[in-house]
Parts: sequence; C-alpha cells; structure tokens
Amino acid sequence: MSKDIAIVYWSGSGNTENLANAIADGVKEAGGTVDVYNVADAEVASIAEYNKIVLGCPAMGDEVLEESEFEPFYLELESLIAGKPVYLFGSYDWGDGQWMRNWAETASENKLQVIETLIVQQADDGTEDAKNLGKRLV
Ligand SMILES: Cc1cc2nc3c(=O)[nH]c(=O)nc-3n(C[C@H](O)[C@H](O)[C@H](O)COP(=O)(O)O)c2cc1C
Repeated sequence: MSKDIAIVYWSGSGNTENLANAIADGVKEAGGTVDVYNVADAEVASIAEYNKIVLGCPAMGDEVLEESEFEPFYLELESLIAGKPVYLFGSYDWGDGQWMRNWAETASENKLQVIETLIVQQADDGTEDAKNLGKRLV
C-alpha cells in the first residue's frame, strides 16, 4: 500500500469533513493517491508512516483544537513526525483564525514542517480552495 498522502480530520458538524473530501478530490484530480481518515479510525503509528500528512480540525472550545479526540491524537503524532511536511486545515465561525495560528506555531516549534494552512469560515464554500490545496500536494 502506498503511504504517500494521508488526510486525518475531526469534524463535529461536517464542515471540516467536507474540506477533507475536497482536498482528497484535488489530489485525485491531479493524479495522486490519498487515504482519508476520520480521526476516530486513525492509528497514530500508521499515519506517521505517510510522506505527507494533512490534518484537519475546526476551531473549538475557545480557539483551540477539539480536545477529546483530535488533540490527544495530534499530540501523540507530533512526537513521531518531526521534520515531516504537514498541512493544516479547518473550519471556523466567529473567530479570526487564532486557533490555526496557534496550531501552526506550536507545530513549527515542535519541528514539524508546516507547508500550508487553510482556514474556511463556515458560511463560505471552501471547496475550490480545498481542491487546489489537494492539487498542490501531488
Ligand atoms: C463547542 C464549539 C466551540 C467553538 N469554538 C469556536 C472558536 O473558538 N472560534 C471559532 O471561530 N469558531 C468556533 N466554533 C465554530 C466552529 O469552528 C464552526 O462551526 C466549524 O464550522 C465547525 O466545523 P465542523 O463542522 O467540522 O465541526 C465552535 C463551535 C463549537 C460547536
């Protein structure tokens, strides 16, 4: 099995899931292969083997990652993937993207190579932007 691109997401009401699927569509349109996982079904050690890792989580709590499923997964993964290219994305509503700035900053401090971030306000259709990100991944 090719371990090229993995997309792992958490989504409470489907917006981040839609972005995950649009990114995957972009990868496929560009001729790449991709595996998409709901974080509930993803195993940290297996995800760490992919060449490029794309992680999606909406702004939750007060400008933080979702704390019961996604954050524990992410923290464990982070320790295994120093130096790897990662792409971060997610949906948000009333904020200004602070959760993503914090996430990208922490990831960089912990030696991940954050190549791109994509945030989409929940009222906007981010499908095209997400697809284009997928194309750039290939
Ligand atoms: C419990 C909860 C906390 C949230 N906290 C924030 C926040 O701090 N900042 C923000 O911009 N949006 C916040 N939101 C809005 C979500 O990020 C937004 O609805 C997003 O589209 C949800 O994505 P999803 O459909 O993938 O779950 C929050 C939503 C919920 C349910």
